[in-house]
Amino acid sequence: MTEIQRATILVTGGAGYIGTHAVQVLQARGYDIIVLDNLVYGHKELVEQVLQAKLIVGNVGDRILLDNIFNNHRITAVMHFAAYAYVGESVADPAKYYHNNVVGTLTLLEAMLAASVKNIVFSSTCATYGVPQSLPITEEQPQHPINPYGHSKLMVENILKDFNLAYGLGSIIFRYFNAAGADPLGKLGEDHNPETHLIPLVLQTALGKREFINIFGTDYPTADGTCIRDYIHVVDLAQAHVLGLEYLLSGSKTEIFNLGNGKGFSVQEVIETAGQVTGKLIKAIICDRRAGDPPILVGSSEKARKLLGWQPQYPDLNAIISHAWNWHQSRHGTIGDKQHE
Ligand SMILES: NC(=O)c1ccc[n+]([C@@H]2O[C@H](COP(=O)([O-])OP(=O)(O)OC[C@H]3O[C@@H](n4cnc5c(N)ncnc54)[C@H](O)[C@@H]3O)[C@@H](O)[C@H]2O)c1
Repeated sequence: MTEIQRATILVTGGAGYIGTHAVQVLQARGYDIIVLDNLVYGHKELVEQVLQAKLIVGNVGDRILLDNIFNNHRITAVMHFAAYAYVGESVADPAKYYHNNVVGTLTLLEAMLAASVKNIVFSSTCATYGVPQSLPITEEQPQHPINPYGHSKLMVENILKDFNLAYGLGSIIFRYFNAAGADPLGKLGEDHNPETHLIPLVLQTALGKREFINIFGTDYPTADGTCIRDYIHVVDLAQAHVLGLEYLLSGSKTEIFNLGNGKGFSVQEVIETAGQVTGKLIKAIICDRRAGDPPILVGSSEKARKLLGWQPQYPDLNAIISHAWNWHQSRHGTIGDKQHE
């Protein structure tokens, strides 16, 4: 094991969906982990029982707590997943988003600098692009977010660029497309409440937890008329984080990478594939288009493939939905309900 792999990584939001998967991959690679999560949306038992990682329950915006963590542990780098990520809520209550996602992150960055921790991997989003100018979306496309959530992430991207120039803080910025799927062994997975993501909603419908799934618009300029999105397996995302971290720790400069499948799947395709995987009839109701939904969002992840050597293992929609289905059945099936509700 190398010196780098014995390092301790502070994972903020490490009790959440993507964070737990990242912790699992980091541990497998030999890193020591400290999770900082306020558990507003995170799952304590996944960190403590499943991952058996150290969990500090607290807020990323709590400077005193951060100073204590950095003083008491030799942290090599931070992976910063902690944020609020509900687009609709960000429109209704932007203050909540700017406060948590921007002010919270600024506090974290200042604490890092005070402790001379100069490496951060940051979760940004394809929502920073807004309506794409061309497809697939590359990192060079102009960023014009269309909601406060996207704005909050773009603000942090800009802060990171400025902090790199002024203070030498190294950062890897990952702009994810739609994270989906679950740990293939079924130990971890997506459990948001409220849930807004298509694949878990479709699987909840398959489980009988929802009566039907809404399809917002069937008159888009796509093959079947429904919107196309880029779904990237959460384990592939997690693997990219380890590669990004090691790129950063080997002295490479600050970089920005899209992380997506490179291939889009329509809402109709997702529902059909979920029907095949689960063997259930999934009732879908056609509704009007939603405001602000671009017909197609597909990213190019060529840069991550070339510079990081990233090679997604599970690009196939069937694998993504099968892994998610295993998780949903164990978490929210009849047995899971008794444990988790
Ligand atoms: N899920 C996606 O498809 C997607 C796409 C693009 C970007 N992202 C970004 O990836 C990151 C992780 O997303 P996720 O889907 O795992 O979300 P999640 O809600 O499951 O995880 C976020 C975690 O952060 C914690 N948290 C929030 N604010 C905190 C704070 N102030 N202090 C401490 N902990 C806090 C929550 O309790 C939660 O456990 C977020 O930054 C999100 O914006 C997600």
